[in-house]
Amino acid sequence: MIKLPGLIDPHVHLREPGATHKEDYDSGTSAALAGGITIVLAMPNTKPPIFDAETLDLALNAAQQKAHCDYGQFVGAGPDNADWQNNTSTSSRSAGLKMYLDSTFGELRLDDMTLWQPHFQNWPKNFPIVAHSESRTMAAAILFAAIYDRPVHIAHISLKEEVLLIKAAKERGIKVTCEVCPHHLFMTNDPLSSPKIGGGLGGGRKEVRPRLATQSDVDALWENMDVIDCFATDHAPHTVEEKDSDNPPPGFPGLETILPLLLTAVDLRRLTLDDVIQKMYTNPKKIFNLPDQPETWVEVDENATYEIKASEQFTRCGWTPFEGWKVKGKVRKVVLRGQVAYENGKILAPAGYGRNIRA
Ligand code: NCD
Ligand code: ZN
Repeated sequence: MIKLPGLIDPHVHLREPGATHKEDYDSGTSAALAGGITIVLAMPNTKPPIFDAETLDLALNAAQQKAHCDYGQFVGAGPDNADWQNNTSTSSRSAGLKMYLDSTFGELRLDDMTLWQPHFQNWPKNFPIVAHSESRTMAAAILFAAIYDRPVHIAHISLKEEVLLIKAAKERGIKVTCEVCPHHLFMTNDPLSSPKIGGGLGGGRKEVRPRLATQSDVDALWENMDVIDCFATDHAPHTVEEKDSDNPPPGFPGLETILPLLLTAVDLRRLTLDDVIQKMYTNPKKIFNLPDQPETWVEVDENATYEIKASEQFTRCGWTPFEGWKVKGKVRKVVLRGQVAYENGKILAPAGYGRNIRA
């Protein structure tokens, strides 16, 4: 049995308000605990999107009643809500500001760089900005961080050119950090060489943003593991019916599979256990300025070998891209603030036990 700190996932979509048939704060935070995660930071591309005090209240009220683990809620950067210096009551209650600068699911997207500027200028420097930016928009987001001398965290990097750019920016002292998701580390866009995606190779199940990349991109992420600050799931549940429809939305669930996948990589000597602790606890805690969780830990049976099955998951979406993958390392028990919150497949922390990390 190994003991890990309560792990942090800084990038999840819990679909509340507005799409609770895919997930909500109850099912999503249950999935988190089953995955060994005790803090989730939820994205704002909900219906309606979270972008001001009123919509933030919608999400935080649901979370307060339903969350089984601790949580924070991002607000989204929109065209008319950059007046943050007069709205510190919203920023201080949020996990941070999410900026969608690239192709995404939902309404929050800022194409025009004149709309980026006031957000970089006005968002408080002690609260993080997270950018969904890919390729050249990532270069632009990093330039904005340099110009306004403030930190930016780049979500879900997937390409060789991205990890090399971030490496160069860090070497020059620009305040940039980044995260990578398991699907970009363990899958490629090549249907022949990549392990099978649950439910078959084709169709809507493989749709995710950023898209799965080439083997050379995947290799570059592994070769530059020291540039990567965090592992995050980008847990983006859509139901299996939606994924298999004619108009499939992009996104993979991931809360219950991230730790076993990474522990399997540890077993194969591709990572160290210390890498996992750094990138799922130490670094996200620092980057997102998160509080201590006293008397909190995760017990893992590092020798348990099993197959990933959607039918055993707490997420409401009903599928996983890792269906049938053989992994080594199973979460047995999660203790959160002195209480057993999860043990052997059962959620024991009641709905409402979770706390807002900014409260
Ligand atoms: C996300 C979703 O479904 O909310 N989908 C995804 O493929 N990652 C949206 C996003 O993060 O862009
Ligand atoms: Zn996302």
